[in-house]
Amino acid sequence: MVKAYVKTFGCQMNEHDSERMRGLLHKVGYTLTPDEAEADFILINTCSIREKAEQKAFSHLGRLKLRKAKKPGLRIGVCGCIAQREGERIIRRAPHVDLVFGTKNIHRLPQLIEKMIKTKRRVIEIYDDRERWQQFGCEIERDNPIRAWVTIMQGCNNYCTYCVVPYVRGSEWSRPAQEILAEIRDLAANGYKEVTLLGHNVNSYGRGLDQEINFPALLRAIDQIEGIERIRFTTSHPKDFSEELVEAIADCPKVCEHIHLPFQSGSDKILKSMNRNYTAAEYIDKVNMLRAKIPQAGITSDVIVGFPTEEEADFQQTLRLIEEVQFEGLFTFLYSRRPQTAAGNFAQQVPNSIKQKRFEILLEIQNRISSERNESLVGTQQEVLIEEGKALDGDGTSGREYLLRGRTRLNKIVEFTGPPDQIGKLRQVKITKANRFNLEGIMLP
Ligand code: 5AD
Ligand code: SF4
Repeated sequence: MVKAYVKTFGCQMNEHDSERMRGLLHKVGYTLTPDEAEADFILINTCSIREKAEQKAFSHLGRLKLRKAKKPGLRIGVCGCIAQREGERIIRRAPHVDLVFGTKNIHRLPQLIEKMIKTKRRVIEIYDDRERWQQFGCEIERDNPIRAWVTIMQGCNNYCTYCVVPYVRGSEWSRPAQEILAEIRDLAANGYKEVTLLGHNVNSYGRGLDQEINFPALLRAIDQIEGIERIRFTTSHPKDFSEELVEAIADCPKVCEHIHLPFQSGSDKILKSMNRNYTAAEYIDKVNMLRAKIPQAGITSDVIVGFPTEEEADFQQTLRLIEEVQFEGLFTFLYSRRPQTAAGNFAQQVPNSIKQKRFEILLEIQNRISSERNESLVGTQQEVLIEEGKALDGDGTSGREYLLRGRTRLNKIVEFTGPPDQIGKLRQVKITKANRFNLEGIMLP
């Protein structure tokens, strides 16, 4: 039995690509193992969004060199965003790597492995945009039996000046609606309850397709699929976040009113220099438009601290925006200089010590806000999709006392006790306690 292990760095898009690659590995006869030490083939799916992510991938590759020295039959593959950008340079840096392929030729994995084994030589294959759509027909080995990721579009044409995505994922491309709907119908038939629609900018879904369809229309069509109980999506760009979309979210009962809407900075000067195409006031207008129609909506966001030329006054504007919007949660990033991007060449980079200090201030404020948002839920009743459970009596023989875990519509994790037959169901839960990152509650009859 030949065993394969896939290690993933980075975002949900990468996690989902790994599910696709596990499906392909399975198909060509590998047994998948969760234990890297026993694998005969190790595939590293890399992330390139910030320098730290790249360093992590390369230091992991460094450790694999020792492993390969002890186990000469071991083969190592590198794919994902670093592979797309660096191609054969990866081999120069890590000569123990046997296979390199990019983000657009995932579907070629079986042929690439065959070539690697047959020729006993290194194989490198990086595509530009050619054939990229074929990878969606692949078999997918999903990690979770209740919630599934579904790719609806990929790539990005926005060229925010800090971002490497357009270079490693290519130009924007939407998947035909019929294919997406067929995949989700199939998921429903297989017992999945929740889908998260993935794309680098889901709001621009449909551009360039023969069929006339946009993202709100797609949501309305998915909402009709029987068996699916919840629909989520990520990521949205504020400039394309429209009233038509908010109406669709309000009209579709299955679409969760949780929006991930990255704002990146509260300073108009910085937003302009980032090429984001909105001002802080316009961002807040969109938030108000959403809350006017859906008062219970929750918003999470991304923010970058220490973008080139960011001064104290710009940073204060970011803090002001955070206080005004009151996000449920915030992903906070230190600006990282990326190759190929425009901002990488900007002269006035912010010193690390200042970046770090601002980062800590911001985090402290958001931690307080997140705790307050969670506190405000104590005493309320929330709809929870129960995803997993752990026996509280040790061996689970009583079949009753389980610690169940699920998420609210706003994607907050809630824990409570109950019987295991509730896993996969939607239940009402009364919230009894709030922590910064999760909630506790009692399941209602
Ligand atoms: N430096 C720091 N953060 C970045 N992001 C993207 N590129 C960079 C960079 N060069 C952040 C943005 C984006 C999230 C996925 O990662 O906030 O929304
Ligand atoms: Fe990157 Fe901007 Fe595209 Fe998002 S919208 S993927 S931040 S270039």
